[in-house]
Amino acid sequence: MDKPKVLITHPIPRIGIELLKERYSVTVLESKYPLEPAFLREKIRGYEGLITLLMDRVDEPLLAAAEHLKVVANHAVGYENIDVDAVKRHRVMATNTPGVLTHATAEIAFALVICLTRRILEADRYTREGRFTVWDPLLLRGDELHGKNLGIIGMGRIGFEMARRCRAFGMNILYYSRNRAAEEKEKAVEAVYCGLDELLEQAHVVSLHVPSTSETRRLIDSAAFDRMRDGVYLINTARGEIVDEAALIKALKRGKVKGAGLDVYEFEPEVSPGLFEMENVVLLPHIGSATIEARNRMSETAARNVIAVLEGERPPNPIPELANLF
Ligand code: NAP
Ligand code: GLV
Repeated sequence: MDKPKVLITHPIPRIGIELLKERYSVTVLESKYPLEPAFLREKIRGYEGLITLLMDRVDEPLLAAAEHLKVVANHAVGYENIDVDAVKRHRVMATNTPGVLTHATAEIAFALVICLTRRILEADRYTREGRFTVWDPLLLRGDELHGKNLGIIGMGRIGFEMARRCRAFGMNILYYSRNRAAEEKEKAVEAVYCGLDELLEQAHVVSLHVPSTSETRRLIDSAAFDRMRDGVYLINTARGEIVDEAALIKALKRGKVKGAGLDVYEFEPEVSPGLFEMENVVLLPHIGSATIEARNRMSETAARNVIAVLEGERPPNPIPELANLF
């Protein structure tokens, strides 16, 4: 009997590919990325397993073309690229990679805070330009974190780890989330649960950690910026569409927002040109989970999810909406 076939839309760390190759016939696409939907619809025919990245849309037309497909394993924790109703209709399991990238992403969010508040990139440019000629008490003064308020929006896995890091630096933790966090989590970081408006009014640093859903898109719009303290810092390592990027640029221009640290963009991979012109923003190319450790674990997790389904077992990481369905 022919081995089941697994398609991977883009090269991923080898560990997951090797695991799959022990059992299945594996094809890794090396085509220009992002893939054209029509190209992927053509390729998917005959495959039982599919590993996708965030830019691959898993929607009705793709699933209709994939008559043998049993599992889509997203190589990411976020899965807004997957049409959940469509996978349910087609009885295709969808999985993600929760937990294995939590520390990596919290580390990059924290790095952005320090970069902005201590003006690290400006200082680096200043030194490289040969302008460091004397120690100057007025030079490149930033903001101290100790004693300031961090507002976490979305106290899940990454939000909590971000809170831990900031608490270790003496920040006070406020958070807003759909549900209140477990008591031991709150205690661990001395976090105070509050409403979104209160958080926006109190926080010196606002850090976003909610998924992209119909409820969170443009959660941070011009009205939200108006509520914030003057001179607030905004960190977004969650998803670009949670922030109205045009409103952010206006808020940066008028000094309402003193600095923004962005790993993700509203029109990703496009970056609003206004952002390039600003000294007080740090712009990263969506590298929240880009550590060797996290990316290896993501690759292995995606592969193990595929293997479980193709072997007729429950996958370790079904997306939450499918957890009780199959
Ligand atoms: P998570 O553990 O599910 O945390 C998300 C939190 O947001 C949960 O506490 C959830 O509440 C809360 N939430 C959901 N909808 C909400 C709403 N409408 N209002 C308020 N709170 C809401 O997920 P995670 O692993 O921390 O990841 C969070 C997100 O980070 C991912 O979805 C992904 O988009 C992004 N991410 C980005 C990178 C990167 O490379 N930049 C890397 C990893 C993840 P409940 O507890 O009630 O579910
Ligand atoms: C990355 O952005 C992820 O959601 O894993």
